Amino acid sequence: MASVHTAITDGVAVLTIVNPPVNALGVAVRSGLVEAVAAAVADSAVRALVLAAEGKVFVAGADISEFGKPPLPPSLPEVVAVIEDCAKPVVAALNGAALGGGLELALACHGRVAAPGAKLGLPEIKLGLIPGAGGTQRLPRIIGAGPAFALMSSGDPVDARKALALGMVDEIAEGDLLAAAIALAVRLAAAGGWTKTRARADKFSPEDRAAFEAAAAAALKRAGRVPNVPALIDAVRACLDQPFTEALAVERARFSALVNDPSARALRHIFFAEREAARIPGIGKEVKARPIAKAAVIGAGTMGGGIAMCFAQAGIPVTLIEVKPEALEVGMARIRANYETSVKRGSLTAEAMAERLSRILPAVGLEAAADADIVVEAVFEDMGVKAEIFGALDRLTKPGTILATNTSYLDVDAIAATTGRPQDVVGLHFFSPANVMRLLEVVRGAQTAPDVLVTAMGLGRTLGKLPVVVGVCYGFVGNRMLAKRTEAAERLLLAGALPHEVDAAVTDFGFRMGPFAMADLAGLDIGWRARKAAGDKAVNAPVADALAEQGRFGQKTGRGFYLYPDGARAGARDPETEALIGALAAARGIARRSFTPDEILARLFYPMVNEGAKILEEGIAARSGDIDIIWVNGYNWPAFTGGPMQWAEEVGLATIVAGLERFAAETGDASLAPCALLRQLAAGAGSFAARDAA
Ligand code: 3HC
Repeated sequence: MASVHTAITDGVAVLTIVNPPVNALGVAVRSGLVEAVAAAVADSAVRALVLAAEGKVFVAGADISEFGKPPLPPSLPEVVAVIEDCAKPVVAALNGAALGGGLELALACHGRVAAPGAKLGLPEIKLGLIPGAGGTQRLPRIIGAGPAFALMSSGDPVDARKALALGMVDEIAEGDLLAAAIALAVRLAAAGGWTKTRARADKFSPEDRAAFEAAAAAALKRAGRVPNVPALIDAVRACLDQPFTEALAVERARFSALVNDPSARALRHIFFAEREAARIPGIGKEVKARPIAKAAVIGAGTMGGGIAMCFAQAGIPVTLIEVKPEALEVGMARIRANYETSVKRGSLTAEAMAERLSRILPAVGLEAAADADIVVEAVFEDMGVKAEIFGALDRLTKPGTILATNTSYLDVDAIAATTGRPQDVVGLHFFSPANVMRLLEVVRGAQTAPDVLVTAMGLGRTLGKLPVVVGVCYGFVGNRMLAKRTEAAERLLLAGALPHEVDAAVTDFGFRMGPFAMADLAGLDIGWRARKAAGDKAVNAPVADALAEQGRFGQKTGRGFYLYPDGARAGARDPETEALIGALAAARGIARRSFTPDEILARLFYPMVNEGAKILEEGIAARSGDIDIIWVNGYNWPAFTGGPMQWAEEVGLATIVAGLERFAAETGDASLAPCALLRQLAAGAGSFAARDAA
């Protein structure tokens, strides 16, 4: 049960927040705090207060699950005001992360002591919000508007040492945190005076304002369509221009408007979906992971090398295996060059590079995988080659070794069947570059053992990834839906849209790149070859095929969907491509017309949503939230729209169904017709979210 416990030591009331797992400030904690402060003020034996919390986290902020629901009093700003106005000094004892509303509570205290491992931050921007309990007003008063804006607009926390340097905390307690906080509270009480944060103005200066305005202008440029950055700027500017109470009202108004904005709804959905993804339906906590102390990666290409780097970074020794010494040398040189770039950029120290390299042991021959606890195969997509490798690994590795494949398209069950231990086989679909991309599709084969799946998920997190369980099908979740977008984009070209119009609609929506600029960057030859190899499973991409057949491979050849004169990185419209598209459409008897950006988005994304719904129907993904985080983390779908399935809910499932029916009728392509699940949810006013929760 959430509560606030009071214990009196040395005339100091220590108020301890107890609300596991992260002491979020739900209604019970808020009212508990107000009551506990009132009781401590009324108690003549108490001269000061300490605000503390139980567990590893101080307070993770407001209770995010209460957002979007009718507010329950007391509000967090009211609690914060009670603390700041307390007739006795209050000192915060920050034992761990003090985030969002948790930091706002602390900023209203009259003193702050942090444990060395504490982290302080206002991450509201990442939830589509701004601080809403005085953070935009009190933090600038404590550290200056420029530094405060930098902290709030990034949303990233600072560690205790940085917080001390900035002036966010008064001291770091190397020993007993509570004792240090109590001692500070006693000193403040003895001095008889303390400053309320709201009354401070000592950090404001023309230089500070200039620093804020410069940071604000830069943030606004980066923000794109996200509405909370302008709101944050308004609140901080109000802090500089207006008296505290009026400026606080600006913050509150902006915060309240944002809480119900679709972007904040979407980011909350992503927040909870990322945590939900860790739960595997049908597998309970009693299933324990297998220990992973040693790994092996087969294939020292770009992918295998990147995967080996992930292990090395996580502190797990890894053997990188190739058939030929030359390939191994090239692979190791690539890894070294990657690290050297990071060292040059300053994101990695030379010592850390040496340490990581020492964890990657190059070896020739599969025998080197014999003592690994997990082997990740990352060779090229050829079933025959993979079958040979898995057969050998089955013979060579010890019992219980997990045999993972990094295949993007091949049937994991067929790969598992080449071994005598299909229960130990799992897919680990990393995204390129593997050492950078956060997404990891963990492919559950028909016979994958529960503890293998649990191990793979835990390992994914150890490697710093966001692992999501998916089932076996062609392309799994991400690439299967991407294929629908590729087909839709090609269909749009033949129907009359031009590459730059499609790409502009997609980047205006929030993607960093449109599908055609992306294809040119990746190289049109790659997709072309893959389509040839895929046979009847190949995506229908007549324009890309025709371009590739002419040797137009994209950026690397200076021409693809666009022109890249003199090695330019941004493509220019190409009349030849546009003429080619016209000719392909004419040959098919398609009368071309123009499309608005909204029409383009509907035609691109509705088929993806339909495929996502089929993926749910087939049980390939357990929840719509899993699909959304796959698209946000692996394919750059803008998080502030929540991923394709959450976006579909905002558009309205009935609208999507009607649109798909229209597209199917117009094109005569029955594969565009809405699937049964989509129809059923739309007809019954159902939602993916409700289905996820069921
Ligand atoms: N509200 C509700 N639930 C929360 C929460 C919050 N603020 N923060 C975490 N949780 C829940 C998670 O959903 C998860 O629940 P589950 O176990 O049922 O899945 C559980 O607490 C544990 O969370 P994590 O898995 O994230 O635990 P970690 O140990 O990995 O991380 C953390 C801890 C760093 C505190 C991380 O949880 C975190 O970053 N939390 C969110 C912080 C945040 O964004 N705060 C701002 C809130 S908005 C706000 O305060 C508005 C104010 O200005 C008015």
